[in-house]
Amino acid sequence: DQILVTRGSSEAIDLIIRTFCRSGEDHILTPTPAFSMYRHYAIIQGAGVVEVQTLAERDFAIDVDVLLAACGAHTKVIFVCSPNNPTGTPLPRADLLRLLDQRRSQSAVVVDEAYIEFGDEQSVIELLNSYPNLLVLRTLSKALGFAGVRCGAVAGAQEIIALLSAIQAPYALATPVVECVEDALDDDQLIIAANAVKQVIAERSRLMSAISNYDFVSKVWPSEANFFLIRVDDAVAMMNHCKAHKVLLRHFGGELADCIRITVGSQSDNDTLLSVLNRFAKD
Ligand SMILES: Cc1ncc(COP(=O)(O)O)c(C=O)c1O
Repeated sequence: DQILVTRGSSEAIDLIIRTFCRSGEDHILTPTPAFSMYRHYAIIQGAGVVEVQTLAERDFAIDVDVLLAACGAHTKVIFVCSPNNPTGTPLPRADLLRLLDQRRSQSAVVVDEAYIEFGDEQSVIELLNSYPNLLVLRTLSKALGFAGVRCGAVAGAQEIIALLSAIQAPYALATPVVECVEDALDDDQLIIAANAVKQVIAERSRLMSAISNYDFVSKVWPSEANFFLIRVDDAVAMMNHCKAHKVLLRHFGGELADCIRITVGSQSDNDTLLSVLNRFAKD
């Protein structure tokens, strides 16, 4: 009764905003940069979006005092992604507890744990019984590599889960999806997935230290996700060079105009990236 299975955790984000935010009256609050779908679904619902800037010079750490100061009577949902996409920054548990306590009867606090398996922080799921305003998002898309199956979940207080369930489309998950998910959650498959996560974590440190040696890279931010963010001299030139060599990275523009997000691949994918970057460094 405390879990709703959804079509990816994206559907859960949509359901939460539609449940809590009245169009034209309420808003969501989220640190930025953050996963773009919080804003996307808020706009579709006609809800406002209040964004609280995190600072590159503080490694994009969330300042809970700043977040709390930005809250008002119409702040109905606070989204915190930990580790965050696209920065890889986790929210320490003590900070989350303060946020949950201070907004206990005023806002739902959604902790998006899409990348939790790649970091050191433990899931906050066991806090659910102490904090009725906490919702936790999980997905099969990242550590389990099942993005195409479109399956995620939201965990929370029974009353909230009942509300979310009431507005979810009936029979949301197709039978082949359910069968695929049952296979993915089989013990043997979970061991394979856990080993793959270990490999990504090891490759992440190898790639980060190799990339920090290039002269055109001025900053590599720490990350607890399966990607990391770097600051480079000319992001557009680097993106174009990589694309021309069939390596796709992510450039967001805006406040991250001089940054690129690199997703950690297999050992051979990462070797390919490094050899493409070696050529970029020589040009
Ligand atoms: C932080 C975060 N949350 C949620 C999602 C949604 O994942 P899905 O809908 O595939 O479960 C993503 C996907 O990129 C993400 O980065």
